[in-house]
Amino acid sequence: MGRAVSDNAVSAALPRHIAITMDGNGRWAAARGLARPAGHKAGLGPVRLCVRECSRLGIEALTLFAFSSENWSRPAEEVASLMGLFLETIDREVNELERQAVRLRIIGNRQALSVRLQAQIAAAEQRTAGNTGLKLQVAVSYGGRWDIVQAARALAGQCASGALPLAAIDEARFAAALELGGLPDPDLLIRTGAERRISNFLLWNLAYAELYFSDRLWPDFDAEEFAAALAFFAGRERRFGHTGGQLGAPAPERSGAALKAAP
Ligand code: FPP
Repeated sequence: MGRAVSDNAVSAALPRHIAITMDGNGRWAAARGLARPAGHKAGLGPVRLCVRECSRLGIEALTLFAFSSENWSRPAEEVASLMGLFLETIDREVNELERQAVRLRIIGNRQALSVRLQAQIAAAEQRTAGNTGLKLQVAVSYGGRWDIVQAARALAGQCASGALPLAAIDEARFAAALELGGLPDPDLLIRTGAERRISNFLLWNLAYAELYFSDRLWPDFDAEEFAAALAFFAGRERRFGHTGGQLGAPAPERSGAALKAAP
């Protein structure tokens, strides 16, 4: 697996939260005459690399898109093999996550998962819950629209029961009801596999993310490409709706809620 990211290659302007759409496993396998699950298995290498590098660089949160709501419609063997891979991987990697003080959470519709996988997820989350290092979210059976609907339903339920006045629903309260509630929004989205789409990932939370599209297939994503994504991010001017001139202006002219939230 790849070398560590050279610290010279990345600027001081690191993202607080990185989201990654890990695309291209199937094509990677096909190019080698292998079945698609071999590509998913090979995709574990870059997962470990990203966890290690984010931990080492002190990045607060990493969210990985492993299985979308729409992926259930893939061939049954591929779905079964991915579920098997999640079971195996969570079981095998939890010690290493512990060692790196990583807190693991699975986001998505976990009711759609097998009882066995749900139990294993709960155990791994419980075991790592007190860890103070990288906050690692793995999205499984996740869809951005599903996330928004479940948040809306939860808030509507609280309103209907009288626990929450309608007027108390604002952006902050809505965000808190989403799967990533409590975490800063991702500042950087990396998508591999040469596709330039959001594909129903974190629709609310990616509102101001910088988008880095890599032509690499996910199993080929390595330390150099990770460093290239960080360098891209460091070179971006993040305006949050303001003008470039405002950003360069003295502090009083830069007032406004969005800018105050800027990292
Ligand atoms: C998309 O590539 C990738 C997936 C649907 C699976 C990603 C899962 C992993 C890398 C395993 C991670 C496991 C854990 C526990 C974090 P694709 O199959 O759509 O590729 P294609 O576009 O080339 O067909």
